[in-house]
Amino acid sequence: MPNDINAAASGQFLIGGDLPVNRLGFGAMRITGDGIWGDPKDIAEAKRTLKRVPELGIDLIDTADSYGPYVSEDLIADVLHPYKNLVIATKGALTRHGPNIWQVVGRPEYLRQAVLMSLRRLKIERIDLWQLHRIDPRVPQDEQFQVIADMRREGLIRHVGLSEVSVAEIKAAQKFFPVTTVQNQYNLVDRKSEAVLDFAEANDIGFIPWAPLASGNLARPGSALTSIAEKLGATPGQVALAWLLKRSKVMLPIPGTGSVKHLEENTAAASLKLSDEDFAALDTEARRAA
Ligand SMILES: NC(=O)c1ccc[n+]([C@@H]2O[C@H](COP(=O)([O-])OP(=O)(O)OC[C@H]3O[C@@H](n4cnc5c(N)ncnc54)[C@H](OP(=O)(O)O)[C@@H]3O)[C@@H](O)[C@H]2O)c1
Repeated sequence: MPNDINAAASGQFLIGGDLPVNRLGFGAMRITGDGIWGDPKDIAEAKRTLKRVPELGIDLIDTADSYGPYVSEDLIADVLHPYKNLVIATKGALTRHGPNIWQVVGRPEYLRQAVLMSLRRLKIERIDLWQLHRIDPRVPQDEQFQVIADMRREGLIRHVGLSEVSVAEIKAAQKFFPVTTVQNQYNLVDRKSEAVLDFAEANDIGFIPWAPLASGNLARPGSALTSIAEKLGATPGQVALAWLLKRSKVMLPIPGTGSVKHLEENTAAASLKLSDEDFAALDTEARRAA
């Protein structure tokens, strides 16, 4: 793998207008066990992967208290603390009762506990970007937004993001605090968040597409992107990430992996520039595949 791979080639985005990050980041959900539960099968490789993240110029790591739970945040602190020019973006509001089980709890006192415990695990005094993992439909929305606004005012959180939200929900939250990022599922073959992406772009809100590789499907050999990838001398996963980076200047993909090899391959996508023709052809190909 060449030594010149660097996420900086993806360009920069200013979170909240004052926190610069290279647009291609890293998703730290895959450094946990099956069902995003417990320790990863190969913890040494997960640690090597984390160590390699900043070496490759990645300065945005997405995590959540619920990944493991706690495993992802703990490993990040173990391997990378004290953080040098690294934005650790974490999330809260999902509780865990077993592998692949995620239950939302948005009561204000729980959200406050989530933030305080993430601060403790990550060994920091302020979270650069804290994201509400889900809005709890059983708790009044305003109560959830109000406690987040309070924690921001108290200095526990620097910037606030939301996850899996509509444009209407972003606008409702904006009455309480500036919404600096939105993290919704989005990739070449899953485009149901186009309206949210367009709103984010128009308002300089970072758009963090989760499952940028369609949970790995777009990176596997034989994916719908194979023929264009072969033409460009790239892998299908790299093409999927390059397409996202070209789709919008506010796009901040966070491909997830627990392997150094995949991390390096994904980061090399930062310097893969697609022509307008390839961009359009991928769009057509992916819509057909979807
Ligand atoms: N906000 C939310 O609700 C939400 C939900 C899900 C995820 N997320 C965040 O978004 C991040 C990305 O989503 P994701 O991890 O679910 O999906 P993804 O990035 O689309 O795909 C990750 C999967 O693809 C595999 N993979 C990665 N790079 C590869 C490569 N170069 N070649 C072959 N396989 C590759 C990984 O396995 P290996 O480990 O074997 O590489 C993993 O199974 C997560 O890590 C997490 O931070 C947020």
